[in-house]
Amino acid sequence: MKEFIAGLPKCELHLHIEGTLEPEMRFDLAKRNNVEQAYSTVEELRATYEFDGLAPFLDVYYEGMNVLRTEPDFYDLATAYLTKAAGQNVRYVEIFFDPQAHTGRGVPFDYVIRGLTRAISDAETNLGIRAQLIMCFLRDYQAEYAMATLLQSLPYRQWIIGIGLDSDERGNPPAKFAAVYARARQEGYRLTMHCDPDQPNSVEHIRQAVQDIGVERIDHGTNVLEDPELAAEIKRRGLGFTTCPISNDRLYGDTKADLIRALLDQGQRVTINSDDPAYFGGYVQENLERVQAELGLTKDEVAQFERNAFEITWLPRAVKDGYLAEVEDYLAGPTG
Ligand code: ADE
Ligand code: ZN
Repeated sequence: MKEFIAGLPKCELHLHIEGTLEPEMRFDLAKRNNVEQAYSTVEELRATYEFDGLAPFLDVYYEGMNVLRTEPDFYDLATAYLTKAAGQNVRYVEIFFDPQAHTGRGVPFDYVIRGLTRAISDAETNLGIRAQLIMCFLRDYQAEYAMATLLQSLPYRQWIIGIGLDSDERGNPPAKFAAVYARARQEGYRLTMHCDPDQPNSVEHIRQAVQDIGVERIDHGTNVLEDPELAAEIKRRGLGFTTCPISNDRLYGDTKADLIRALLDQGQRVTINSDDPAYFGGYVQENLERVQAELGLTKDEVAQFERNAFEITWLPRAVKDGYLAEVEDYLAGPTG
């Protein structure tokens, strides 16, 4: 099964590029940029990656990205991730980035976007993996700041496929960002949003995201199963769920595999992703292996996650169909 998953053409739709900063690179960049670190070895640092919920994780995540300062830093970060992903036969990725977490520290938007897009372009040429960028707003900051960041992104519109919303969800409902999402839609951005597991008012947040904002995907979103009518509406609309089992386990002590299974059984477009792999200790391959093992999934059921993922990408129909055909060809071949 491990070999089957390794060869399966895969797609990742929930990946924070800042969450791919491995401790080794964090030390390298700290040295390059003269940023002092509280720990002196990779082992010591990695040992601090124990999280008791989303907020404690976010503290460590924002602290880590403080070493990212220059255009080459963002290039190196994204190149390392894309190399790792291509090595796992990930064929296409929609990558989240958090511009406010950088511009708020004085790093120009231009460095972030140019470093990331240069890495994406080189990876396509050198590794055959394709990627696009999704700009996330930090929901624990004011909506006006998100709107200003949205306007700041407009000169870079051609390099950003859509917008998302992340960071601490407590007290920061989707409705807070209704005007930002309306403007983003007007500008032609595609729309997604985190609805993290087990937040206060999780189900109401999913409802707002779907009915009031009109998102096309929900990042996480497993609490929807508490509201069968809402789940049925989401299925009717064909929206996708980007779930992250190892992230769930590390933050909430449970992969939520049973909920992922329930979504799969409902025929929802549920997918498996890595979220912040450098902090949670698993890329897409390991996330798929984990869910497969916990649920005893068949090859065809594992492949369904990738059919779902390619189907809900923000790619033109013909390109989606090309990737979907790769999945079916693989299933029909010797390993499938
Ligand atoms: N930022 C990075 N990873 C996140 C997650 N899983 N939820 C919310 N914000 C995040
Ligand atoms: Zn996430």
